[in-house]
Amino acid sequence: MTSNAKSLKIGVLGCGNVGAALVQLVAAQRAVVEQRTGLDLQVTRVAVRNISAPREVTLDDGVLTRDARDVVTDPDIDIVVEAIGGIEPARELILEALRHGKPVVTANKELLANVGAELYEAADQAGLDLLFEAAVAGGIPIMRALRESLHGEPVRRVLGIINGTTNFILTKMTDAVAEGGDADYSSALSEAQRLGFAERDPTADVEGFDAGAKAAIIATVAFGAKVVAGDVYHEGISNVTAAEIAIAHRLGYVVKLLAIIERDSSNGDISVRVHPAMVPINHPLASVRDSFNAVFVEGDFVDSLMFYGRGAGGAPTASAVFGDVVDAAIKLRSGTHGSLGALGQATIKPIDETSAEYLLGLDVADEPGVLHSVTGVFAAHGVSIRVAEQEGNGPDARLVFITHTAREADVQATVRELRGLEEVRNVGGLLRVVGD
Ligand code: HSE
Repeated sequence: MTSNAKSLKIGVLGCGNVGAALVQLVAAQRAVVEQRTGLDLQVTRVAVRNISAPREVTLDDGVLTRDARDVVTDPDIDIVVEAIGGIEPARELILEALRHGKPVVTANKELLANVGAELYEAADQAGLDLLFEAAVAGGIPIMRALRESLHGEPVRRVLGIINGTTNFILTKMTDAVAEGGDADYSSALSEAQRLGFAERDPTADVEGFDAGAKAAIIATVAFGAKVVAGDVYHEGISNVTAAEIAIAHRLGYVVKLLAIIERDSSNGDISVRVHPAMVPINHPLASVRDSFNAVFVEGDFVDSLMFYGRGAGGAPTASAVFGDVVDAAIKLRSGTHGSLGALGQATIKPIDETSAEYLLGLDVADEPGVLHSVTGVFAAHGVSIRVAEQEGNGPDARLVFITHTAREADVQATVRELRGLEEVRNVGGLLRVVGD
């Protein structure tokens, strides 16, 4: 440390993948950061549940403690990093750190997607930073882009591939379809589990809860309104079939689990949803493969932007956390802090009122009048057909439709009526077309 560098001490709560990678990154970049900022940053306390558990980093004597509260109240600690996850005790520890005058950096999406508004307000009242770049899309700097670079931009819509596990599974299924191999969901999921992308219980990822929580945070930051995880409509990928991926592929689309966050320019209502979607093959999001994430932002002035990178993993997440730590340290030195401002109440548009083009596959008998009956149901609900195709013949016949833009409620009513039609043996899942 140079004689006039200001020394700031970091207390870290949790030493799992992210905490351990952060400790390594802070040490590796200490001299560079000091040279660039005049700040000497050091991790001096790390709170863990089990002191004797094996971990990837070696810490000096006296750094580890089992008492997280001791870290957030320690007068020697300047900045707190929360990397324990979950809502409690993370929420209480962050509030305590703020009460003790310490800015906080967190990677905790579950916390922010549920009680973020309370914490942002507490940080503002304390005049301190609460930064959370790593909570959404790991190493991709999308929070800072939305909070700072795009602060004045009339953002219209954000489309995100913000769950790496599901993107990995869908990529495997898509590749297998293209190669004519075994493309079923369960073998792709098993491969994701074997490679460590998917958890043993994959529900949070594959049913869209994880992406839904991230979508709520994006909506809050992009539109300055209180949106929580419970506001987000979500469908997962566990019902996506190889047949649907094959049809999408043939028609020029790739199936992705998308988070869609948009504001209705006519009344300000916000729609936040996560579901599998058919993305046109020439859309930039279609090229996001494997476990990568990407966030595509559409604004009235900036036009389109795409942010791409690693959405998970200890090292990319620690990179985002450390960026926030350096930012918080600079602001702490100058006595300033960033703010999301006063968050408004969001009016959430129900999924029934959203619109899209839809792909729908029906197994039918190949007999005179079947197409007439089926298309009559679409017409009765005001749903206009853009593409109609038949695959197979006789008892194996399948009708595939893509609608023009239609209201969700009308399409769901169409599906309900088609299910009751004698000529229809099976109604496949709906896939919405997004990104045209
Ligand atoms: N499980 C998430 C994913 C990463 O697969 O992207 C943590 O949010």
